[in-house]
Amino acid sequence: QGPDTYSPTGQATGARQSRIAQADAYLTTANGTRLYETDHSLKAGPRGPVLLQDHHLREKITHFDHERIPERVVHARGAAAHGVFQAYGSASGITKAAFLAEGAETPVFVRFSTVLGSRGSADTVRDTRGFATKFYTDEGVFDLVGNNIPVFFIQDAIKFPDIIHAGKPHPDREIPQAQSAHDTFWDFVTLHTEATHHTLWNMSDRGIPRSYRMMEGFGVHTFRLVNGEGETTLVKFHWKPKLGVHSQMWEEAQITGGVDPDFHRRDLADAIEAGAFPQWELGVQTFPDTPDEMFEGIDLLDPTKIVPEELAPVRPIGLMTLNANPSNFFAETEQVAFHVGHLVPGIDVTNDALMQGRLFSYVDTQITRLGGPNFTQLPINRTHAPVNDMLRDGMHQTAVHRGVAPYRPNSLDGGCPFLAGAETGAYIEVPVEVPAARKVRDAAASFDDHFSQARQFWLSMTPTEQAHIIAAYTFELGKCWETAVKERGLRSLANIDPELCAQVATGLGLPAPEPSVPLATVEPSPALSQIGREWPVD
Ligand code: HEM
Repeated sequence: QGPDTYSPTGQATGARQSRIAQADAYLTTANGTRLYETDHSLKAGPRGPVLLQDHHLREKITHFDHERIPERVVHARGAAAHGVFQAYGSASGITKAAFLAEGAETPVFVRFSTVLGSRGSADTVRDTRGFATKFYTDEGVFDLVGNNIPVFFIQDAIKFPDIIHAGKPHPDREIPQAQSAHDTFWDFVTLHTEATHHTLWNMSDRGIPRSYRMMEGFGVHTFRLVNGEGETTLVKFHWKPKLGVHSQMWEEAQITGGVDPDFHRRDLADAIEAGAFPQWELGVQTFPDTPDEMFEGIDLLDPTKIVPEELAPVRPIGLMTLNANPSNFFAETEQVAFHVGHLVPGIDVTNDALMQGRLFSYVDTQITRLGGPNFTQLPINRTHAPVNDMLRDGMHQTAVHRGVAPYRPNSLDGGCPFLAGAETGAYIEVPVEVPAARKVRDAAASFDDHFSQARQFWLSMTPTEQAHIIAAYTFELGKCWETAVKERGLRSLANIDPELCAQVATGLGLPAPEPSVPLATVEPSPALSQIGREWPVD
């Protein structure tokens, strides 16, 4: 299903038909009984009491009363668009995924979002942005559920409820609504120093994108690709915007946010409506699939680390063009359900403990958010591949399954054992060795370095970008009530760079502490700066 081609009930309609509400001559009830008017309730006389028997009144109000569904527990505020992905074929050597073969064209639906704000919050706040893409491939749905920042706050999904509780509005007064300027957020990220790197990206210009059309996207985790010969390659996915990466100045964001809190949503919709279709190249950094899953000393299972593009260049593998706005925000943008576990043959996950937790979390939350386990039947979530599953019943089941024996093998419905050769075209997990190990609640020692890459990011910034970072930390930490939190923030900054720490300390009127770990010796990575980047290459 593409844009404008299905009605709210999922039936095909003519192009743009779904834009027109109640285009037919007569209104009906939900059951199709014709109505002659909808503005007066049934009463005992024109001034009399309203009668309980008025089905149309009760149906209209009851339905309205239940119009809202829970907003997403994170990434509640978003905007989305339809488009197409065209593969260059340059990934064919490393993956058997059919949608990445040369010339393949795949419909996509992309939802951009902020993380912390509620559905009605402003677009322009300082926050990480979601960048989630649903590829409706012939082999099933592949979801690339990424962000505009290549690293994450935490290394293990078990801390996700904690970082989100710390980042969401304070539970007593629900203030602040959508920004990082508060004590619990800073309390968390300074006590859990693995968050230092991501927080630095948030405090940089990346935290306030100019437009969704001008953001990079990152799959963050390392994925494992497998080709037709069974050879595997570790990769990180990148989206590179054709328009380049651009941000708003803090002061600009205050104005755009005040004048038009829908700034990014409007920008995306207007650009597409005007025919200025935004484009991104999908690229991969590739790494040999070695038993230690490390590359140049970087642990590929640690989602707080990047691999600098100077060490592993991003190879373009396809082009995405967003060319149509949703027809109905609720049916599409709100009801779309992404899941890191929606994979197709040729793409597999790794042991990244953050990724593993995500594999559980998305479907779990969607069962609540979308009212039961059948949300894959919603038009926006429907795969374009044939479905032949044995899932039955449940809330909001719309399929009318036939037969009596939803199990295999069976001797009643013609069900037979899996046929020889059934593996062809099937999703088969890469048989990765799991080394003999004892159960532990712990992480590898390679996860302990929380500051080197933050320092590398800082050193890669131009003086202008550094000035913006200093201003952002000074403003945000300055909003904290607790001096102890501000002081701990400065201690993190001292471990990134003494000059950064000193300038923020001056702004806060507090002494600058000494570093508590030796400063890392790292080379700048010019590709991290937004200014003077060589990408996009035409
Ligand atoms: C939603 C990205 C980590 C749980 C989202 C969305 C994005 C995203 C883009 C919005 C999807 C949409 O537009 O509908 C990421 C990235 C992560 C990350 C890049 C780390 C690299 C986690 C972790 C968990 C988690 C560790 C839980 C353990 C959720 C939940 C939702 C969500 C519950 C709401 C889903 C829904 O209601 O449909 N995430 N996330 N995320 N994420 Fe994550």
